[in-house]
Amino acid sequence: MPESAFDAAYWMQRYATGQDQWDAGRVTEPLRAYFAQLGPPDARRILIPGAGRAYEAEFLHRAGWPQVFVADFAAEPLRALQQRVPDFPAAHLLEADFFTLEGPFDLIIEQTFFCALAPALRPAYARKVAELLRPGGKLVGLLFDGPVGPGDGPPFGGTREEYRALFAPYFDFLHFEAARNSIKPRQGRELFISLRRKPVSRA
Ligand SMILES: C[S@@+](CC[C@H](N)C(=O)[O-])C[C@H]1O[C@@H](n2cnc3c(N)ncnc32)[C@H](O)[C@@H]1O
Repeated sequence: MPESAFDAAYWMQRYATGQDQWDAGRVTEPLRAYFAQLGPPDARRILIPGAGRAYEAEFLHRAGWPQVFVADFAAEPLRALQQRVPDFPAAHLLEADFFTLEGPFDLIIEQTFFCALAPALRPAYARKVAELLRPGGKLVGLLFDGPVGPGDGPPFGGTREEYRALFAPYFDFLHFEAARNSIKPRQGRELFISLRRKPVSRA
């Protein structure tokens, strides 16, 4: 498991002291719009890693999706989801390090998790999402489009070129464009991505 200064204790401390500025308090519009076009609920296994308070999981669960999993190594936000949505399946709350998760999943949702990781972990993130997805499965969500903040702590921004190089070995790029419906503080600063896991080669 890769080591990072931004470990569970770091994030627990941020939740405990209310330093959770990333928390939108609701499902964000780009993801709500994406979910709306998924069609009726089915058995697809959906993972939201680094989920925080997981409003997206709440939205999908209330819409009838039965196989939604949230993972976060901080306990507080998972408890918050459980309190808001008491019938969310306890077995789908994964209090675990992302890098230890096991698949397979059909869809992984990204929002302010990639940017929360130390940049040195990005190649491991790309490998791990690829490992967790079935061939044909998708990584869908939002990445910052350019630099963010001073760079000495999360969130860490990035460039399209960097993202292309990271994900191209494992994914076909179905959508990779500026998001048009970001929440206000992120307007003009996000890419909406939809990347499809390539078939695993058996060379
Ligand atoms: C910036 S917050 C974003 C939370 C959520 N995605 C949102 O949009 O509100 C990053 C989250 O990732 C979690 N996290 C960071 N590194 C993790 C790891 N290696 N495994 C699991 N969770 C992790 C933190 O505990 C935190 O809840």
